[in-house]
Amino acid sequence: MAEHRGVRKRPFILLGVACAVVGLVLGILIGFFAIPKSGTPWSAALTREGDPSVPARLQRELNPDNIRENLRTLTARPHIAGKEMDLGVARLIRDRWLEYGFDSARLVPYDVLLAYPSRDPNRLSRVSLLESDGTVVAESQQQEAGVNDPEAEPPFNAYSASGDVQGDLVYVNFARAEDFQTLVQGLGVDATGKICIARYGKIFRGNKAKLASQFGCAGLILYSDPEQCAVAGWAVWPDGWMMPSTGVQRGNVKDAKWKGDSLTPFYPANEYAYRLDEQDANHPTIPVHPISYGVAVEILRNMAGPEAPVDWQGGLDITYHLGPGYTGPASSRTVRLVVNQDREVRTTYNVIGTIRGAVEPDRYVIVGNHHDAWVYGSVDASSGTAVMLELGRALGKLKAEGWRPRRTIVFGSWGAEEQGIIGSAEFVEDHIRNLQERTVAYLNCDSAAAGNFSIAMSASPLLHSLIREAAKKVPDPHEPSKNLYDTWRLKRPEEEGNPDTRPKIGRLGSGSDFTPFFQHAGIAALDMWNDIDTASFGFGYPLYHSGYETFDLQDRFIDPDWTVHQSVGRLWGEMAVTLADALVLPLDVRDYAAALQKMTDELRDEHGARLAAQNIGLEHLESAIAKFTRATTTFRQSLGDVDKLNPLAVRAVNDRLMKLEGAFIDPLGLPDRPWFRHVVFAPSSVNTYAGQSFPGLADALLDIDNVNPADQATRWELVRKQLAVTTFTVESAANTLVNNLF
Ligand SMILES: *[C@@H]1O[C@H](CO)[C@@H](O)[C@H](O)[C@H]1NC(C)=O
Ligand SMILES: [Zn+2]
Repeated sequence: MAEHRGVRKRPFILLGVACAVVGLVLGILIGFFAIPKSGTPWSAALTREGDPSVPARLQRELNPDNIRENLRTLTARPHIAGKEMDLGVARLIRDRWLEYGFDSARLVPYDVLLAYPSRDPNRLSRVSLLESDGTVVAESQQQEAGVNDPEAEPPFNAYSASGDVQGDLVYVNFARAEDFQTLVQGLGVDATGKICIARYGKIFRGNKAKLASQFGCAGLILYSDPEQCAVAGWAVWPDGWMMPSTGVQRGNVKDAKWKGDSLTPFYPANEYAYRLDEQDANHPTIPVHPISYGVAVEILRNMAGPEAPVDWQGGLDITYHLGPGYTGPASSRTVRLVVNQDREVRTTYNVIGTIRGAVEPDRYVIVGNHHDAWVYGSVDASSGTAVMLELGRALGKLKAEGWRPRRTIVFGSWGAEEQGIIGSAEFVEDHIRNLQERTVAYLNCDSAAAGNFSIAMSASPLLHSLIREAAKKVPDPHEPSKNLYDTWRLKRPEEEGNPDTRPKIGRLGSGSDFTPFFQHAGIAALDMWNDIDTASFGFGYPLYHSGYETFDLQDRFIDPDWTVHQSVGRLWGEMAVTLADALVLPLDVRDYAAALQKMTDELRDEHGARLAAQNIGLEHLESAIAKFTRATTTFRQSLGDVDKLNPLAVRAVNDRLMKLEGAFIDPLGLPDRPWFRHVVFAPSSVNTYAGQSFPGLADALLDIDNVNPADQATRWELVRKQLAVTTFTVESAANTLVNNLF
């Protein structure tokens, strides 16, 4: 850049003078004509910093008892997406927001494809272990013991194919690609045409369903193995928070190339939408059904075939065998898997509420959470909804006391997240132009309290600094004399084993409503929750998506004094208000440069030799990242010189900050899954929950040594293309930060 400086000086000065004159005239005109009701001249309001007392007042206002009562109300009945009870919850949220003094709150409907288990007594979904004469040895239940509620749907895996298959059972561990490869190649067991049984865990269940059909399984049974949900010696529900033998994890098994409604990718599911045929919707082609470990142990006992490898042995009190089929007196037994689901286009309702910005009403800070749940959802996601309601009440109170945010705060309570992030994706697709042009950031909180160990966070690098600074201002829920930042980095340090580092902030994959905002629209986003000690346990909260996610689970075991919920609300509110009120947006571009550098190092470590062998160098990517890094440093320095009394100058830097995330969007999207358009971050193709850096490149390189020789050359061409696309995208993003580009 340096060699251009001399040439650029004159136009720059002229531009500066012109800006100053325009600014002055504008300022005088605005000051002269527009004196707002409060009596403050507009010119002063335009350049005023946020009231520093507001975040602290907001924190004080958030009340644990209110959150508790909210959760009790929200979890009174099951509220699965698209049914009457869920609409009831949506209406309750809208009414509360109006009562709290929001400027608007309304239901926003979309007509989307939803799946429910058949309730017809002749068409019930089930897994049975049968003698050759048809006698039932063991069978899955229609409801989990203790969940005596006709409104609760029986456990099911939404969007499974319907079908009735019977045959020999094969155990496939976690149903990951490497598990199937080991099974077929290393252990010599063929899954083709068999009923496969896999334990939940490690990867998203939708990935398992797709792999099972790719590897030829006739059907897939998913079960919760105690190794992933019930530590020996720990009390199970209702005496504790581990999974009992009767519990079943529900969940959708879509592994589509897009999120949102199955039938309307890229466009809103409104009254004139063009809908795909269901067979083109990328749903699983085989029946998939979830069972408890109480039933699984009966089905896995006495299996024939080789003993499963040591790391395939789970936590049941049996020796796991691979199959196929059974041995000894059980040798003539078979497993039957019946799935019947009804699919219909039904209405799901988002609730959208706003507190309008006083100065920049056309700039949005969006906070979001989903209101639907598989059953009562006391963790997922009603704990987040309970907090969001209290946050809304507190903001409403501040507003009644005379505060109004500088920018508009939008509240989104999404419908049908559990069925595939549907409500939020339809909303983003519907309003994508406005959202891309005007949104500062999207702050997601799904399950506010899944455990009481520590905050967990994934985010765009742009928000890292905001997150850290906010955490320093929130007291720890257990030790109020310490702040959340310090306890968080102690429990989840960025650098493993080193509590002196910063707290760990993960990469966004998928699994909640931030996905359409971040990976489809290119809006900076974060996802936060409080979790159990997942690193020690090796799994997430055990009662996940079961009927035991009840009010009592929170009140007795996770958060009896409700301060964990309160602290999540405080952190969420602190960030929202800071983003909404700060004169200059608190987004730090330097963290993006550091993240890109780290990802490139990882890429080189993992694939450098492989790439070099193909004569593919990373030097252009490296230099694009160096350019990005220089641009962020320069931009950051220039922020210090911004004339904060000049609203146009402030708007100019804020727009660059706001739009940087969008610069990482490739309009053509990622190869083979164009709905995902962020070139730096996407859900991993191997595990939807995990965040994958440089996904286009990663997908092209995925298992490249093992693809069949005929396809090798095509794959390497894809690698070359994706490297160029990635390099160009990083360079483009750098350019958006540079003054006087041309
Ligand atoms: C909550 O915290 C207590 C005390 O540390 C712990 O014993 C308990 O297991 C925690 N519960 C959950 C659900 O994380
Ligand atoms: Zn959720």
